[in-house]
Amino acid sequence: MVDVILGLQWGDEGKGKIVDYFAKDYDVIARFQGGPNAGHTLYVGDKKIVLHQIPSGVFHPNTTNLIGNGVVLDPVTLKRECETVASFGIDLKKNLYISERTHLILPTHRALDAAAESSKGNQKIGSTLKGIGPTYMDKTGRNGLRVGDLLDKNFTTSYIKLRLKHQRLLDNFSFTEDISSWEEQFFEAVEFLKELNIVNGEYFINNKIQAGKKVLAEGAQGSMLDIDFGTFPFVTSSNTISAGVCNGLGIAPQKIKEVIGVTKAYCTRVGGGPFPTELENETGEELRKIGNEFGATTGRPRRCGWIDLVALKFACMINGVTKIVMTKADVLDAFKDLEVCTSYMINGKESGEVPFQMTRVNIKPVYKKFNGWNTSTNAAKSENDLPESMKVYVDFINKYLGTKVHYISNGPGREQIVSIP
Ligand code: GDP
Ligand code: IMO
Ligand code: MG
Repeated sequence: MVDVILGLQWGDEGKGKIVDYFAKDYDVIARFQGGPNAGHTLYVGDKKIVLHQIPSGVFHPNTTNLIGNGVVLDPVTLKRECETVASFGIDLKKNLYISERTHLILPTHRALDAAAESSKGNQKIGSTLKGIGPTYMDKTGRNGLRVGDLLDKNFTTSYIKLRLKHQRLLDNFSFTEDISSWEEQFFEAVEFLKELNIVNGEYFINNKIQAGKKVLAEGAQGSMLDIDFGTFPFVTSSNTISAGVCNGLGIAPQKIKEVIGVTKAYCTRVGGGPFPTELENETGEELRKIGNEFGATTGRPRRCGWIDLVALKFACMINGVTKIVMTKADVLDAFKDLEVCTSYMINGKESGEVPFQMTRVNIKPVYKKFNGWNTSTNAAKSENDLPESMKVYVDFINKYLGTKVHYISNGPGREQIVSIP
């Protein structure tokens, strides 16, 4: 049996904290897509940790963590992260497994990412520059190198061949930066990676399922950054939605049970691209300040706005969301009035649907206003502790989406979460 936790907005919904919260109930936590573009924050005691590659269940000593074939892996980031995690006394030899089919991010992929972005001028995607796009391009272009290839005696030859191909592309972009130090780090990290558990991921996970173990698939990015269903071309390069779990791990669709969607009580986006409910005013500033909305991977300020129910309902539909977790509800404590986007005016016509492209049309959100609760909710432990106005806000969202918010996260801490049966 497999449950999924994934983001319903443009990323950074708080997936890391929520996966860490649920991890104790699972035997295996598996990442199925994305790579070090992800930044998943969690707290162990009062220590803040940001994970990029390793699944967020790693701090539970009895869970097994799998980096699936759908992920793109940067050995350098992985090594650095493994060292941090090991300093907490976690034995990664015992509880981290990596699929041999996982594609490798090479130094030249990072260089290509930088070169391609800078050539885009004012049409920049705002990539994290971790080499994600070029690595997935080499996967679908059937050129990429995979973790299992590291164990082949001809790996260096294959690497040099691909590097030469990349060099020609870099020359076209007039990219001249010296990346020899990146390569040094890469080959050092490769030696480290080869010592970890490299497995046949699809057999590994299906054997676990067969044995009755509980698997939790951890999404990265968010549904609106999905390569097919997001705000293309301002998206990432993988399927971030629940369908991605099947080809990102090698499991059949009927094995998936709960799809737990995580949304903030408002909305953020980092990088370029359409964001209908963005508030480029004092309220947006306030959300950024109180919510501490700065990228966990790049440190960039996140764009902030009100919750967008049109996009959320779309995300619930394409993911088959069964339960919703609403995070950062406490960030709204300070706001006198709240707004919720219930439809879009698209070129003057009202619509409840997300259009296939959002850049060549004029989208104006239609809002419904709500009273804020104006009281601190950080200490709430149960539904009874939640203010009435918050219940009204959440009830409206439940009815609109036709899917219920089952958990409200009311602070970054591990225990700050209220369950609503
Ligand atoms: P992820 O990428 O979805 O894992 O989310 P990030 O870690 O990038 O960003 C979420 C941020 O919000 C992190 O700094 C978390 O510590 C923080 N956070 C998570 N849940 C809550 C919450 O309920 N309230 C507050 N105030 N912060 C939260
Ligand atoms: P988590 O898992 C928020 C955004 C980037 C950029 C676009 C493409 O922490 O939610 P890429 O590096 O994939 O080429 O960037 O996607 N992006 C994210 N935004 N959270 C993330 O991950 C993101 N990963 C990528 O800002 O706009
Ligand atoms: Mg993040």
